[in-house]
Amino acid sequence: MVKPRTEEEIELLRENGEIVSKTLAEVGRHVAPGVTTKELDRVAETFIRDHGAVPNFLGYDGYPAAICASVNDVVVHGFPSDYVLKEGDIVSIDLGTLYKGYNGDSCYTFPVGEVDAETRKLLDVTKASLYKGIEQAVAGKRTGDIGHAVQTYAESFGFSVVRELEGHGIGTDMHEEPGVPNYGRQGHGARLLDGMTICIEPMINAGVRGVYLARNGWAVHTADHKKAAHFELTVVVRRDKAEQLSTFDYIEKDPDIKF
Ligand code: MF3
Ligand code: CO
Repeated sequence: MVKPRTEEEIELLRENGEIVSKTLAEVGRHVAPGVTTKELDRVAETFIRDHGAVPNFLGYDGYPAAICASVNDVVVHGFPSDYVLKEGDIVSIDLGTLYKGYNGDSCYTFPVGEVDAETRKLLDVTKASLYKGIEQAVAGKRTGDIGHAVQTYAESFGFSVVRELEGHGIGTDMHEEPGVPNYGRQGHGARLLDGMTICIEPMINAGVRGVYLARNGWAVHTADHKKAAHFELTVVVRRDKAEQLSTFDYIEKDPDIKF
């Protein structure tokens, strides 16, 4: 069941988006060589709770932390751990909130110190592919228009699109219909309606598109162990142009955050 949201519901999703966006920036201030991903999880959980929200990942299908911290060849769902970030790594920080009965969910991939040129390009292209997808999140279009835009852009740089995971509707549940794949055909898939709230989240690999699930049942790795990037924003579908409910501005306008 895909249902457009009321303006009241959209406002609550926007409040979640604000907390999530600010939490991502707070984590970003702590990303540096020498820091463990467990420390980043503590920063996020504390910040979320200090803002009156609850980390919605914690306990989701048994997930053990407030954030996913996916380093280098981990595409998504990396557990925060004692791994010490080092210069040249990338780390995707995916996190969400439950606040006033609604959900937030966004992700940003941070460079750790200086990264090589190919990695820099992977980060830039993945983020730009997300904005290409958002441009298609207009009433009357279909999920395949979003996927097609993301895929066409990312593949034009020689990168590949992970097929096994996708974006999703969001509301009182973190994951709602429709699924929002990062590949597809124009004019195919679920129709987008004015007021529909969705998360668009390209997962793009530097090498092959194949992935495998780690033995812990969560972490998804690239098959060739090359790096993967992941960016996610929550948007509301509108008639002329999608409106973002979360933003990377708190990260990118902060002179103290390396992005
Ligand atoms: N943030 C992921 C998504 O974008 C979901 C995280 S799964 C969890 O859909 F178990 F960690 F919550
Ligand atoms: Co999501």
